[in-house]
Amino acid sequence: MKSVSLNGKIFEELLSGDEIQVIVKSLATKINKDYAGLNPIVVAVLDGAFMFAADLVRHFNFEHQFRFVKLSSYKGMESSGEITHLLDLDINISDRNILIVEDIVDTGVTLHHYQRKLSAQAPKNIEICSLLMKPNSLQHKDLAVKYCGQDIADEFVIGYGLDWDYQGRHLPAIYQLRKD
Ligand code: IMP
Repeated sequence: MKSVSLNGKIFEELLSGDEIQVIVKSLATKINKDYAGLNPIVVAVLDGAFMFAADLVRHFNFEHQFRFVKLSSYKGMESSGEITHLLDLDINISDRNILIVEDIVDTGVTLHHYQRKLSAQAPKNIEICSLLMKPNSLQHKDLAVKYCGQDIADEFVIGYGLDWDYQGRHLPAIYQLRKD
């Protein structure tokens, strides 16, 4: 099994670069079907979703506007529960379809908070696309992730945009913390 070491911890490969691309393409196929003619605003959440969003939108064949927002809730390997908006949307979203693109939904606190914030600006509809999801850590069971690439176990992962203290983002595959 392929593995990487970061700060003395071992992470084992969970999804190869090729496996990720199969997931990305299959998500894009569904999204292309659902969003034809709707001209949504696609909102990718920095930092983690930058690589996923870049690959995903390359498959999109419908008209849309693409924006980044930057939200932060993580400190090291733990969700802090407090959401900081470091870069906000500067576009009128009223009566628009919004598609949020996220790297991973863990507790769901970040997107639950962000969805509520966007809802206050009266969009027509908000849907979520997340590459990964940890269903066992989800606190907001009502958080609807319409497009989910893959459910994973409740272990910390790095790679393909996901970091541990700003390291590991560049890796083309996704690696999971090995339990010792
Ligand atoms: P949540 O609010 O607990 O759902 O956490 C969402 C954010 O935490 C994600 O957008 C990631 O940036 C980060 N995150 C959650 N789990 C992991 C992980 O296993 N590795 C790296 N970042 C993670």
